[in-house]
Amino acid sequence: MTNSSTRASVSVLGLGPMGRALASAFLTAGHPLTVWNRTPGRAGDLPERGATVASSAEDAVRAGEVVVVCLLDYDAVRAVLPATGWAGRTLVNLSSGEPAQARALAGWAAGWGIRYLDGAILTPTPAIGTPAAAVLYSGARDAYDAVREAMTALGGTGRHLDADPGRAAAYEVALLDLFATSVHGAAHAFALASAEGVAPGDLAPFAVGISDLLSEMIPRWAEQLRTGRFPGERSTVASAGATLTRLVQAASAHGLDTGALAAAKRTADRAVAAGHGRDGLARLVAATAATRGVPAPPSRD
Ligand SMILES: NC(=O)c1ccc[n+]([C@@H]2O[C@H](COP(=O)([O-])OP(=O)(O)OC[C@H]3O[C@@H](n4cnc5c(N)ncnc54)[C@H](OP(=O)(O)O)[C@@H]3O)[C@@H](O)[C@H]2O)c1
Repeated sequence: MTNSSTRASVSVLGLGPMGRALASAFLTAGHPLTVWNRTPGRAGDLPERGATVASSAEDAVRAGEVVVVCLLDYDAVRAVLPATGWAGRTLVNLSSGEPAQARALAGWAAGWGIRYLDGAILTPTPAIGTPAAAVLYSGARDAYDAVREAMTALGGTGRHLDADPGRAAAYEVALLDLFATSVHGAAHAFALASAEGVAPGDLAPFAVGISDLLSEMIPRWAEQLRTGRFPGERSTVASAGATLTRLVQAASAHGLDTGALAAAKRTADRAVAAGHGRDGLARLVAATAATRGVPAPPSRD
């Protein structure tokens, strides 16, 4: 452990699995640590490792130069945070939420003169404190500079994106969209395979091969979206639409919920109706909005 006298004092509010992982990383890095949780008794081994358990959120805020909040959602954050007692402190909210909620909380903090940084944790609890951790931050640069050194305790990649406090949450919702729909896809694929009598272990190696395709596809799509060119040499929107029709039929035949597949089919149909049937699959991005076009992604050029 590093000498704690050289480290900023940190308070962690919220001791769910992620809050405990964050607290553990701060302790390991040698930060004097205070923790608080709405329900007592959730601190695990943190007290015996040197953490102080505060009896109120206000006490926890008073104890830390860096106040990290990691709760279920922004409503919980609003319910917990005191409005006063923040002089010389920086609030870092690592709870998941929507960009508009992050901007609203930043507005609340500004109204009380609280230095505020929003953040999005992109990796699961075992990654925290290791090189695999990834945390994005957004908000005023001076807030990031005030906590930057302390946040290196979380390990891996920490990146300040933008002065817009909602930017980290914008990345997070987009990435969770990818994760959630992929998880649903995996569950649905296992269910369909099972309904056809295919054992999970037999499907798994081929399913891994399918998921690996995304690693190649994602940067290729990003480049196509940047340039506005969607070559249909590998596969076309029209072909994907026909595949989806078959998938909906196969899943329906076994009584599976086809809601996600039907939504994907509607997206392909809109792209075809817009005259893009012979284009590559990145064309689907613009056809995703049900009632209006999705704005073109911002270009880095
Ligand atoms: N776990 C992960 O791998 C992971 C990864 C990335 C991001 N995150 C994000 O990190 C945040 C925390 O996640 P988590 O895994 O630690 O568990 P969680 O179940 O999302 O949150 C649990 C924490 O929220 C508190 N809480 C819930 N409702 C509350 C309320 N109304 N008032 C006060 N406190 C309230 C709980 O307190 P009580 O103990 O009193 O219920 C507990 O401290 C979430 O936003 C999550 O999306 C988690």
